[in-house]
Amino acid sequence: MATSEGCGKAAHTSNMPVQASEWHPGVRVMSRRHPHNHLDGTGLAQLQPAGGESASVQESSGEGAAEQEWQQEMLDMAETGHEAKNCQCQGSAGICRTGATPLRSASALELWGPPGEQPLFPEWQVPLRVTFALLAITFLYTFLREVLQPYLAWSKNNFYKMPVLVMNKALPWTSITLLALVYLPGLLAAMLQLYRGTKYRRFPAWLEGWLCVRKQLGLLSFYLACLHALYSLCYPMRRSYRYKVLNWAYQQVQQNKEDAWLSDDVWRMEIYISLGIMTLGLLAVVAVTSLPSISNSLSWREFTWIQRSLGYTALLLGTAHALVYGWSKWVDSAQYVWYTPPSFILACLLPLSVLLVKAAMLPPCLSRRLELIRRGWERPAPPPPPPPTRKNDRDRKTCLTPKEEPLLTKL
Ligand code: HEM
Repeated sequence: MATSEGCGKAAHTSNMPVQASEWHPGVRVMSRRHPHNHLDGTGLAQLQPAGGESASVQESSGEGAAEQEWQQEMLDMAETGHEAKNCQCQGSAGICRTGATPLRSASALELWGPPGEQPLFPEWQVPLRVTFALLAITFLYTFLREVLQPYLAWSKNNFYKMPVLVMNKALPWTSITLLALVYLPGLLAAMLQLYRGTKYRRFPAWLEGWLCVRKQLGLLSFYLACLHALYSLCYPMRRSYRYKVLNWAYQQVQQNKEDAWLSDDVWRMEIYISLGIMTLGLLAVVAVTSLPSISNSLSWREFTWIQRSLGYTALLLGTAHALVYGWSKWVDSAQYVWYTPPSFILACLLPLSVLLVKAAMLPPCLSRRLELIRRGWERPAPPPPPPPTRKNDRDRKTCLTPKEEPLLTKL
């Protein structure tokens, strides 16, 4: 799951070898050729270096020989540095989409160590940390509002809500935030390019690093959205829910009410559930097409269209899903427990901002200029400063010391 800026899928045509991988060709080749990771099973691995030429290398059958060969390849690549040239993210956070580390000065062995000591899922470490941090914050926020506040205020024991209800607020909130974080760096990069008027200047390291982890952020967002859907569908299975339904029915009988149908509530739920399902469906397409085996069968244009258009539509529908879920709770003062806004308002803030910025960049005056910049156009450099005028000379004269002043008049 990623968009086209930064170190996204390298532009390729579908007839290129599979090893011209989407994120970082050489690293995939390395992992295939790695003695402990025979992914292709054919024993053949193709190298697709930056220049486009490919070389087939027969994998050695013996473990020791394979190890030696792999180490040699690491060193070769460290020397040539062709990996680093291919990855636009090299040198930023130190780790690219595939976990590639810039191979410029140090050898690959120095950077990664022998196979047994290689870092575990290096490209997932930052996205996972961000995800867990967001989950912890959102869980705590919901816990304070939904469990602790009723307990302290009315001694109401809502602790049973923690495993499902509180969790099912933290999950979608984190999921939609991660989805917004997938599209935010692309917008920041676009704004930077528009401001600079060129695409040939590097982005700041933090932005490059961020651009490089969009796929992971997107897949984690999809994963959490799936969990959220499962949790939501399990609501009626819970015993607490069944007791609540029974209690509502009893109260209804007591109030002599025959029909509990609330049209507003019915419509609200029908709409937001439908929007949620559509969002999940779109996210599934975007996530599946980010898998190398699928993305390699797509053209560059198809890939970017799916990642960009469907991804933004998913973000839009997901935000609409949360907003419709909130319905009129925005203005209900009872929702502002301890003066804190309900979680769905906070969950929508970042996605709404991203969508607004995206909308602001859609007018042709900006989008066409960005398109031109991305095709290589550069804003002409500003003219050189004008030569000093007489006024400047006079100004300079005033800067002279009293001793130098007569010298100048003599000249
Ligand atoms: C099959 C798909 C889905 C179903 C059935 C579903 C269902 C629900 C339900 C029942 C709620 C209310 C939760 C509660 O407070 O008790 C909810 C809230 C929410 N959902 Fe979904 N959802 C789906 C997909 C998604 C997706 C894909 C996203 C976004 C990535 C999403 C984002 C949200 C958000 C942000 C909230 C508001 C949570 C809050 O109150 O803080 N949902 N959804």
